Amino acid sequence: MIYIAPSILAADFSNLAQDVERVETAGANYLHLDVMDGMFVPNISFGPPVISSLRKNTKLFFDVHLMIKNPQRYIEDFVRAGADNITIHYESTTRPLEALQKIKEYDMRASIAISPSTPYGVVLPFLEMVDMVLVMTVEPGFGGQSLILETLSKVQAIRKFANERGINVDIQVDGGVTPENVALATAAGANVIVAGSAIFKSKTPKKVIAQMREEAAAHPFIG
Ligand code: DX5
Ligand code: ZN
Repeated sequence: MIYIAPSILAADFSNLAQDVERVETAGANYLHLDVMDGMFVPNISFGPPVISSLRKNTKLFFDVHLMIKNPQRYIEDFVRAGADNITIHYESTTRPLEALQKIKEYDMRASIAISPSTPYGVVLPFLEMVDMVLVMTVEPGFGGQSLILETLSKVQAIRKFANERGINVDIQVDGGVTPENVALATAAGANVIVAGSAIFKSKTPKKVIAQMREEAAAHPFIG
C-alpha cells in the first residue's frame, strides 16, 4: 500500500488547523511533522506543543520526523503530544539503537532516517526492529528543495535487501517529491511518500494526491 504524507512545513502556520483539514479531506494518509532544533539541522521549526494542539483537530496518523540532536531526550514528550510514529536520524545520536528502543517501549512505531550522504548499509542492522526507513531525498533542514536522484539507489538497495530476507518494512522518501517524480521513488521501492510543497502549496491538493497515487500504482517496485 502507498501512503501519502503531506509535510506541514509547507503549510500556512497562521491557518494550520484549516490547512491540515484540507489535506485530510484531500485523501492524505499521514501528517508528516518535521521537528528541527537548529543544531542537528540549521533550521528551527516547532515542537510538542504544536503537535498536541493539532492532535485535537485531526484523526490523521502523526508521522513525527525528528531532526534534533540526541532525540532520546525527548521521546516521551512526543509520545505525549500524540505521535503515532517517531523517526530518528541515524546521524543525530551515537546511540540510535537506544533511541529506537525507547520509542518501542511506548508501544509505538519507530523508524530510522538517513541523510543523503549517509550510506544505506548503516540501517541494515536495524531493519528487523524498525517499522520504517526514511531515505532523505534532500538535505534535511528545509522544504522546497529538489529531489537528489542519486538517493533513490539507496531506496532500491534497502528494498532489495529486505525482500530477499522476507523483511516487511516501509520505506519513506522525503524531500522534493512531486507527481512528476514520485514514480521514480516507488519503482525504487518506496511506499511512504512525503510531500510538503507539492501538496500544501497546491490549490488542488486532492488532484495532486490522486495523481501521486496513480503514478505510484503504475510504477511499482520491479527489483
Ligand atoms: C526536510 C523535511 C521535509 C520537507 C519536505 O528537512 O524533512 O519533510 O518539509 O518538503 P518538500 O516536499 O517541500 O521538499
Ligand atoms: Zn521530513
